[in-house]
Amino acid sequence: MARFSRIIGTGGYLPEKVLTNAELERSIDTTDAWITERTGIRQRHIAAEGEFTVDLAEAASRQALEAAGLSSVDLIVVATTTPDRVFPSTACLLQSRLDIHGGPAFDVQAVCAGFIYALSVADHFIKAGTANTALVVGAETFSRIIDWTDRDTCVLFGDGAGAVVLRADDGPGILSTHLHADGDYADLLHVPKGVSTNLASVQAGTAYVEMSGREVFRMAVQKLGELVDEALQANGLERGDIDRLVPHQANIRIITATAKKLRMPMDRVVLTVAEHGNTSAASIPLALDVAVKRGDIKDGDRLLLEGFGGGFTWGGALVEWRS
Ligand code: UT7
Repeated sequence: MARFSRIIGTGGYLPEKVLTNAELERSIDTTDAWITERTGIRQRHIAAEGEFTVDLAEAASRQALEAAGLSSVDLIVVATTTPDRVFPSTACLLQSRLDIHGGPAFDVQAVCAGFIYALSVADHFIKAGTANTALVVGAETFSRIIDWTDRDTCVLFGDGAGAVVLRADDGPGILSTHLHADGDYADLLHVPKGVSTNLASVQAGTAYVEMSGREVFRMAVQKLGELVDEALQANGLERGDIDRLVPHQANIRIITATAKKLRMPMDRVVLTVAEHGNTSAASIPLALDVAVKRGDIKDGDRLLLEGFGGGFTWGGALVEWRS
């Protein structure tokens, strides 16, 4: 009998502090009009001092587990670019917080495509019969690797966490996942220093995101367009067969281009970019959680989740929703 992973619970958490475009206008040379027109972002959430990635992950995970009616899972995968420690992984820290013990727990690092990577890994564990349940989390304190004087990047990002619980089922569920990377583009979107290359800059808190925005934009639109074709083809579906797009929330113009490729009206696209900004690995599960809680997603709906990020990495998951 076929074996699928089904999403049986979602959760999301955003830090309390909101940073609006108007506030950014006061600290850097930018305008609310520029940020809104070019990105669609109006505000973002910023973690409080002493609030860390695992705290955000825990809050989102508790909600997802409660929604799923589970207190434990066989597997924990956390997608993050901003782990609390070099090691152990955020997934191990989270496992302890949740009082779950013994099963595998590890982090996945694929920046803004991280949640899709984590979801795909967990889906493969479940399909292979290695796990029956899994907690998949995207959690970031991206504000900690942003140069708040660099207007090219600081207006874009925010903090947050989203989580889903998967359970093995004999019907869909996740229909397919598609992962890609091309490391030749590493320098177009990166934090140029790390522990191995310059620990001092990391310790001094001066290892910041650098981005060639225009090139990233162009590649994101191109690769996400190709991904739409790939996901449809893999499942023998036509463009009109997808009911909802749940995109990574980097820029409304990238999202609009992908929706156009799907010939999907924007009212079928889950949008949180205005309120959340780009929360990297957290943005897709956060958007999914918002849509689920709003009651926008109905049984039988086919969802395309997709994201593009540093690496470059990109990927998608086609999901047939059953609550
Ligand atoms: O999560 C995945 C990774 N990230 C992304 O997907 C982001 C991809 N890139 C983008 O979303 C867009 O490229 C940006 C939003 C980053 C920039 O938008 P753009 O339309 O590509 O603008 P641009 O970089 O071509 O800059 C246009 C102008 C420049 O001025 P000049 O050279 O034309 O005089 C910039 O200096 O806008 C200027 N600019 C700003 N002005 C006001 C750049 N940042 C700002 C700012 N406020 N914050």
